[in-house]
Amino acid sequence: MTTILTVEKVCKQYPGVTALDHVDFSLEQGEVRALLGKNGAGKSTLVKVLSGAIRPDSGVIAIDGRPVIFDRPQDAFHQGISTVYQEMSLVPGLTVAENILLGRWPMRRLLGISFVARKQIMQTAKLALDQLEVEIPLDELVAHLNVAQQQLVEIAKAISFDPRVMILDEPSSALPSEEVETLHKVVRRLAAQGRAVIYVTHRLQEIPRVADSVTVLRDGRHIGTIPVAEATPEQITTMMIGADWQRTQWRRDAEVGEVKLAVKGLNRAGKLHDIAFEVRGGEVLGLAGLLGSGRTELLRSIFGLDAIDSGEIVVKGRPIAHPSPLTMKANGVGLTPEDRKKQGLVLVFPVRDNLTLASLHRVSHGGILQPAQEEALAQEMVANMAIKTPSLSVTTNTLSGGNQQKVVIGNWLNTLPDVLIMDEPTRGIDIQAKEQIFTLVRDLARQGLAVLFVSSEIEEVLDVSDRILIINQGRITGAVTHDEITLEQLMALAMEELVP
Ligand SMILES: Nc1ncnc2c1ncn2[C@@H]1O[C@H](COP(=O)(O)OP(=O)(O)OP(=O)(O)O)[C@@H](O)[C@H]1O
Ligand SMILES: [Mg+2]
Repeated sequence: MTTILTVEKVCKQYPGVTALDHVDFSLEQGEVRALLGKNGAGKSTLVKVLSGAIRPDSGVIAIDGRPVIFDRPQDAFHQGISTVYQEMSLVPGLTVAENILLGRWPMRRLLGISFVARKQIMQTAKLALDQLEVEIPLDELVAHLNVAQQQLVEIAKAISFDPRVMILDEPSSALPSEEVETLHKVVRRLAAQGRAVIYVTHRLQEIPRVADSVTVLRDGRHIGTIPVAEATPEQITTMMIGADWQRTQWRRDAEVGEVKLAVKGLNRAGKLHDIAFEVRGGEVLGLAGLLGSGRTELLRSIFGLDAIDSGEIVVKGRPIAHPSPLTMKANGVGLTPEDRKKQGLVLVFPVRDNLTLASLHRVSHGGILQPAQEEALAQEMVANMAIKTPSLSVTTNTLSGGNQQKVVIGNWLNTLPDVLIMDEPTRGIDIQAKEQIFTLVRDLARQGLAVLFVSSEIEEVLDVSDRILIINQGRITGAVTHDEITLEQLMALAMEELVP
């Protein structure tokens, strides 16, 4: 085997955090390496060092045995390293094709004037998307795509560089399972062509399908690299978290109380048809459905983000005349959004502010903010959710992706809503943190909260919910309780073809 990439004793320090601590790492031609670790373990930092986005404090990176220094991402490109970052880097106002070729639009000269060679952009972009075998219109604005489509465009962009080493930082966390399979195929194809791939993920079940070997980081240190045959979920969990960790079995003993949220005859042309259901206090109601089944549309309509054509939304017995995020919040409904960057966080604000944004009334008196109370509320949430941050004052964009996601959820939990709507809350969250979040949610349910929960991981929906609605082509096609269904049955129901 031929080693393409070697990393020796790489260190990276941030104020108050050792992100990488003498990390050794090497990658063979044709190898897919899964990179794992808890939120804040240093995965993205290693990715950024390898892609020239940041300079390590010390250590050596070598390509084909020759030491290299990356001052800028372009230096890494020239060495054949192409990266899909965890936080998306597309320009919303440009088209799909323009984004794929961003920064290297081909030019054409006519009568001494330079023009962008549109046709060539389209051709090159099409080639990249064809490799992914997905249908996304090349001339669509990226702003009009959903998160999954945007992620696929990012990947197409990275492929278009024809890299020797492809780095994917959580490429699957924003993708529904149907698309994840296509992604795996593409990754295996890249490896079969003799390229090497680094694949960061929190979904342990994809490892045997996509990877040859697994590297685990913990607290910035390289804990070990093992072949995929040895990488059982138990082994990986032990390497990530330590041997003493035990899965918490949350209690399902909350008393089911009053109806907190009722949806009646809800219609939205072409998207949602005659949706009706209730969620009671003490209850976690899951929504199971595939991409495009109407899950997100339903949550958005309930929260007033999208207009409805007919139907009624009733909160604690009171019909909401004009649902809007503002009126819903005023009535005790919270929504943790699918896309944390767009709807969830002010990234340049300190962690403290982002944890209390939605609950300022709890830490103010007579309209005046009480800093000590705000500090205490934020601190409590950092402890409860084990948010990894050197302090409450650092800006939120310095936190790792998963820890930013915890801040979004913490912000809404702090509002003490009566109804909490969670759209993909566990995206990019490590297995231990997931359980912490679910434990918190179950505790709140015991205090009377009603939860409406959506995840593209059906396993997770089954795990956390008391009751599950199956949504298919914009219709509720079934309702089951946690105890009366297996995962296989639930998946089959969610995927059932509807007879028109
Ligand atoms: N720009 C920065 N400034 C300060 N601290 C940072 C910065 N970037 C990362 N860190 C810190 O470095 C540590 C490692 O972060 P990193 O993003 O590499 O984690 P990760 O393993 O990718 O986690 P996740 O699974 O949540 O994405 C974290 O404690 C994080 O807060
Ligand atoms: Mg990361």
